[in-house]
Amino acid sequence: MNEILETYRYLQKQVPNFTPEIGIVLGTGLGALIDNIEIIAKIPYGSIPNFPIATVEAHKGKLIFGMLNGKKVVCMQGRFHFYEGYSMQKVTFGIRVMKLLGIGTLIVSNAAGGLNPAFEISDLMIIQDHISLFLPQNPLIGHNFDSLGDRFPDMSEPYHPDLIQDAENIASKNNLRIQKGVYVSVSGPQLETKAEYKLLRQLGADAVGMSTVPEIIVARHMGINCFGLSVITDLCIPETLQKAEFENIVAAARAAEPSMSLIISGLVGQI
Ligand code: HPA
Repeated sequence: MNEILETYRYLQKQVPNFTPEIGIVLGTGLGALIDNIEIIAKIPYGSIPNFPIATVEAHKGKLIFGMLNGKKVVCMQGRFHFYEGYSMQKVTFGIRVMKLLGIGTLIVSNAAGGLNPAFEISDLMIIQDHISLFLPQNPLIGHNFDSLGDRFPDMSEPYHPDLIQDAENIASKNNLRIQKGVYVSVSGPQLETKAEYKLLRQLGADAVGMSTVPEIIVARHMGINCFGLSVITDLCIPETLQKAEFENIVAAARAAEPSMSLIISGLVGQI
């Protein structure tokens, strides 16, 4: 708690008189969104007290304050994954700080494997619900800070129905193909076996990935409205499973960037 407060105070001094309404985790597929942001401040994670930067990737991370489609936003360019060795508290640290800075809405994106046989490579999937049960740790375990949220936070609607509806409307107005489904989170870093994909599908998941859910749990703990969008980067159908190639995953995500940015920009404008 002291670390969160210290970081919040530092950032407030860096960007005074700016209260962001919306937090965005620029995950896979949302890299290009940065071009639409009128940047007010760009702060490397390395210069922010208590921000986790143990990995090479994290060293490149930045917190970006600016205007997007008329709204004040704060964006995490670079997120933290449990498989990198961070504790769940560190994985979700940025979300806690963004809440103190003032956000009421959180938007995240990710890359995911498609378990639903109707999905195609580079499809976008609005996350309607999630399954967190396969994560080996949980960011809320330990002392509960009642000033942040309840001991037993509700998870009946982790993704806000109005945001889901608005995103669907934006997609349909722009003739964009859009899917909706359940995201199941795993720790990674290895991809799943055929038997695991089969199991996850049977349990009711449409897509599988290694991020997002800890961030959403912490955001909901603090009463933030959430929206998540996945880009399907590989098809995880056991009978036809291909060997995963990193370059193909990156290419599939890149192909979806324009439509993903369009939906998120539109959504931000309507909040
Ligand atoms: N499994 C887990 N995470 C992923 C996958 C997958 O198949 N594809 C992209 N992220």
